[in-house]
Amino acid sequence: MTNNTPTADYLCPLCNETLLLTGKTYRCSNNHCFDEAKEGYVNLLPVQHKHSKSPGDNADMVNARRSFLDNGYYQPLIDKLKSLYQEFANTNLAIFDAGCGEGFYTHQYKTDNNQVYGIDISKSAVKIAAKRYKNCHFSVGTLSHLPFADNSIGWINSIYAPILENEFTRVLKADSYLLTVTPAEKHLIELKSLIYIDAKEHDTAKNPIENLTLINEEKLNYTMEFNNSNDILNLLSMTPFAFKASAEVIEELKSKQSFSCQADFLIRLYEKSP
Ligand SMILES: C[S@@+](CC[C@H](N)C(=O)[O-])C[C@H]1O[C@@H](n2cnc3c(N)ncnc32)[C@H](O)[C@@H]1O
Ligand SMILES: [Zn+2]
Repeated sequence: MTNNTPTADYLCPLCNETLLLTGKTYRCSNNHCFDEAKEGYVNLLPVQHKHSKSPGDNADMVNARRSFLDNGYYQPLIDKLKSLYQEFANTNLAIFDAGCGEGFYTHQYKTDNNQVYGIDISKSAVKIAAKRYKNCHFSVGTLSHLPFADNSIGWINSIYAPILENEFTRVLKADSYLLTVTPAEKHLIELKSLIYIDAKEHDTAKNPIENLTLINEEKLNYTMEFNNSNDILNLLSMTPFAFKASAEVIEELKSKQSFSCQADFLIRLYEKSP
């Protein structure tokens, strides 16, 4: 990323000093160096923060999600997220997409006036995010140790990703916002019903955030109509219950010419007090 300067400078994941970009290398005052990859992202995940060799979503899941999202099934969600951002955010401040996956939501927020950051622990995801969306800053990193200074971010998105309240609160500026999207009761219930005999609805009672103020909560429910089995299989591959699907269920999905399934999202917006 050479054509725009970050306004929320990255911090070194080893010593927390500011990283400055010179050429294609980010360097801190203690001379820890992180090279920009050819796709344009930087890997800020040191081995000591890694709990497995390839943490996060693997390439198959990432590619399935990209194909599915590219086909527009979640467009109503994007429209809703963008309208909340326009309504509440100070759109000049830095935005951070936490657990950004392949950058599908991340890039929707980019304007001429802001800097947009996406972090994910999955290198496969960050690689294709950075390759496609050149106008955003992508890095491999962990949400439990964010490479941002305190009070440096104006808007955080957490879409179907782990919510690390303490870190999110630390990096948010006062009067700024955290938006979370989690499954509402009937999310993908028809797909789940093919896999589980007694498919359970999602439990939405628990509010995972305690130290920010919930200022807006709404559900978005609509039915997705599928007319090809590839999209259904891609959707299945994106879900945590994919590994529970038997060979028979996969065959059944492959043979489906049409399928209706609910998308049901719970969208919560929190504000950090002054
Ligand atoms: C269900 S995906 C959602 C991706 C994207 N937000 C979307 O909705 O398309 C969850 C993402 O969180 C990432 N993730 C899981 N644990 C993480 C962590 N500790 N730090 C950073 N990313 C993490 C995964 O690699 C995966 O890309
Ligand atoms: Zn350092």
